[in-house]
Amino acid sequence: MMVFYPIFTAIFAVIYLLYYYITKNHDYWKKRNVPYLKPTLLFGNYKEYIIFRKYLPKVTQEICRKFPNEPYVGVFYGTDPALIIKDPNIIKLVMAKDFYYFNYREISQHTHKELITQNMFFNGGDTWKVLRQNLTALFSSAKMKNMFHLIESCASTLEDTLGKEMTNQNTIEIKSLLARYTMDCIGSCAFGVNTGTLMNKSPSNPFIIMGEKLFDVSNYGGFRLVSRAMWPSLFYKLGFTLFEGDIQHFFKKLLTEVFESRQYKESARNDFVDLILGWKKKTYLSGDSITNFNTGAKTTIRLDVDDNLLIAQCILFFAAGFETTSTTTSFVLYELAKRKDAQTRVLQEIDDYFQRHEGKIQYECINEMPFVQACIDETLRIYPVLGVLTREVTEDYTLPTGLRLEKGTRVHIPVYDLHHNPENFPDPEEFRPERFLGEEKKNIKQFTYMPFGEGPRICIGMRFARMPIVAGLLTILKNYSVELAEGMPRTVDFQPRALVTQAMQRINIKFIPRKL
Ligand code: HEM
Repeated sequence: MMVFYPIFTAIFAVIYLLYYYITKNHDYWKKRNVPYLKPTLLFGNYKEYIIFRKYLPKVTQEICRKFPNEPYVGVFYGTDPALIIKDPNIIKLVMAKDFYYFNYREISQHTHKELITQNMFFNGGDTWKVLRQNLTALFSSAKMKNMFHLIESCASTLEDTLGKEMTNQNTIEIKSLLARYTMDCIGSCAFGVNTGTLMNKSPSNPFIIMGEKLFDVSNYGGFRLVSRAMWPSLFYKLGFTLFEGDIQHFFKKLLTEVFESRQYKESARNDFVDLILGWKKKTYLSGDSITNFNTGAKTTIRLDVDDNLLIAQCILFFAAGFETTSTTTSFVLYELAKRKDAQTRVLQEIDDYFQRHEGKIQYECINEMPFVQACIDETLRIYPVLGVLTREVTEDYTLPTGLRLEKGTRVHIPVYDLHHNPENFPDPEEFRPERFLGEEKKNIKQFTYMPFGEGPRICIGMRFARMPIVAGLLTILKNYSVELAEGMPRTVDFQPRALVTQAMQRINIKFIPRKL
């Protein structure tokens, strides 16, 4: 019997240590007098998300609703404490005014552990600042205007493809069709390549495969997403990665081929590839230090350029460029299919537009149709692509309430809850584009509507995004009106395993040819 004592003691010690590690933070918010939810073991307050039952922004919304009058709520994201900030005045400090103290997205110390997370989205600090500064030039109004003809050409292929698909059926699963269209748009505008995804919807098209891998919603994909977010140290120690290795090989090959086809010289296209070709030659990038936000100094930083850095940004542009815009456009069509009166007004505005522009889709379309724009804004309110935005405290910071936030603390901005809070948007589940028109638009409180984020980290592609969305809507609604397909529900559930908002079910839309 005696021989078992050391074994029992060892087992007991391991269990005790594990228990200690898991629960050591459970009084974190209590000690700081922050209203908080009692955590469960290991899962904290996010069990429903961790076991793939609920979409993260909905879990966050449920937590917020338990504390209607508090400016913030302390939670346990798995085993880590996190602060959900609800008060728009404090959100403004975090996102904009005191941005320097919150410039990282989250779990910043792990971004270097895989190639793809070295992109601008995941990074913070000086690396983010230098990248952002050097990429911003790509999105100027002049650049957008110059590249619009490429979008127009993809929209024309969309028209042909839709026409062909309509010869067999009148009900179409719109999300995947639009993902093929927006992949074509980003491929053409950013890399100068024809992805051919619209013309050839074969599942062996490598761009379609990469798109699916980047937004993998399988159980394994969900497991990687959730476990990296909750327990990043353990995740990487066990040898997992968020993204599969072949994604980076594909984009490395793609970039090399495009570089070769341009003979390593910048072309007249002035696109993303030209920009990074310039970076490659310089071997380093320079830009302002993030600390300048705080000190007002003019310190300059040099960031070494290697192939990994280029590939990481390339993958980011492809991923962010196609998924967000196709999801948003399909939700606009879904909502218009349900709201006949809004659709009638949209069709009228589109017909007027075509009359003014001799039937052509031109750059001006993104500014000339206020009701269409209001429908897009309202869609992004109901279906924000990122329903929770994350930040990480970069340096100890004290909120005006006196709460001291320690360096490294996770901060969550509950975008979905803000957009669906009746105090900010009455009857929040109702699709009412009028909220974004005229006088009514002025009633929207600052920092309660953030589909593209806010402050210095606001979506860099915000202006670009409007081009494929509006051109796509014009192309489709010029020829067809839309209805919900048979059996299509009037509300959708959200995919809990997804990085960005996605419907659980297919979005099936019935297209009815318009007699003009
Ligand atoms: C409807 C379309 C889109 C939506 C709703 C959207 C939304 C967002 C949001 C919420 C963020 C985070 C902002 C923050 O943390 O404050 C973001 C960041 C970003 N988006 Fe978009 N996006 C869209 C389209 C695009 C497109 C088309 C591109 C590129 C071509 C793009 C590139 C990026 C990049 C690079 C970032 C990281 C910015 C940074 O961290 O500094 N996005 N986007």
